[in-house]
Amino acid sequence: MDDFKRREFIKLSALGFAGIALQLNSITTYAQSANAHFGKWNQDTAINWDAFLERLTQLAKTQYEIPWDQKQYTQQVKQLLLQCHFPGFENIRKELESYEDRTPNMAEATNLHMEVDFQVSLFQFEKGEYIPHHDHPDMTGVINVVSGSILAKNYSLEEQLSTTREIIKNGRKEVMQKCTVREVGNEIIEGGHVSVLTAHEGNIHSIMPNLYTQMVDVFTPAYKQDTSTIWYQVNEDGFSEGQKNVFEAEYVNKELSEVNVIKLRNRKLNRYVGAYKVRETSYLKVYKKEDDIILERTPNLDTPGMLMKLLPYEHNKFWVEDQPIRCVFNIGDRKEAESLTLFVSGTSITANKIK
Ligand SMILES: [Fe+2]
Repeated sequence: MDDFKRREFIKLSALGFAGIALQLNSITTYAQSANAHFGKWNQDTAINWDAFLERLTQLAKTQYEIPWDQKQYTQQVKQLLLQCHFPGFENIRKELESYEDRTPNMAEATNLHMEVDFQVSLFQFEKGEYIPHHDHPDMTGVINVVSGSILAKNYSLEEQLSTTREIIKNGRKEVMQKCTVREVGNEIIEGGHVSVLTAHEGNIHSIMPNLYTQMVDVFTPAYKQDTSTIWYQVNEDGFSEGQKNVFEAEYVNKELSEVNVIKLRNRKLNRYVGAYKVRETSYLKVYKKEDDIILERTPNLDTPGMLMKLLPYEHNKFWVEDQPIRCVFNIGDRKEAESLTLFVSGTSITANKIK
């Protein structure tokens, strides 16, 4: 029998996850035991979840090699993913069985495992729950379509252009920066197949599920609190200056963009203060701290969570500081907030006030 090894892993469940959804995560820990050891692993070994993590842990250490051969690494991860029957893994089976389309028009994302070196995420999409073009800064991604089918388009950043334009959107001045991107992949990926991106090739992608689709993705290294995903609008109508497969694109230059903050009277802030429930394992607490209003996301009301400062740009409307997330309080007849709605990446989530 293979060696057994006990390890501590971190599980991170998310409303979405950094860069994809709300970048609002909560962390719980749990322990598992591995039943296959890396030294006894070969390409025919039937592996379970813990053996999968063992192997991935070993492979992900190559990111510290200089230079890091990302092509080789992503091919190794691809091979590993293809050896796994994820729906048969107990932790994933539970996630699949408890699936609900909680956020219409948006993929459901669960982080199955997270450590500094890599993370493994499960995505479940309804047909048409499109993820627009976005990058994965300094990361590789190996995307395994477990079931269903997606159209995956991948681009590499070709050139940063100096052209910018300003737009005012929901009380925020956004500086749109132009660039060009080169299409390096445009294919339908069916269940049992894998799509790959590295830090330099195909790092920008979009995903369109053609039917209900499940994906298990490995990102290396893991998303960090300050990972700043860029969302691109790619003009796919025609090539840029006749260059084959090169398209113009635009993104928000966050450093040059700013919120036109208005001043709210301190007592007016009281109407927002309270606890809001997204779902059973996801709450938002709103409270005042001096003249500021703080939003805190927690898995339950007794646990400290991630803190975000809200910047008012109109009455009852805020931006989350340094995030592309808007928070709008829905005010009832008693001039108190009854719920709040978070807007991100073209979709929204509403949480009702519970106290
Ligand atoms: Fe992505």
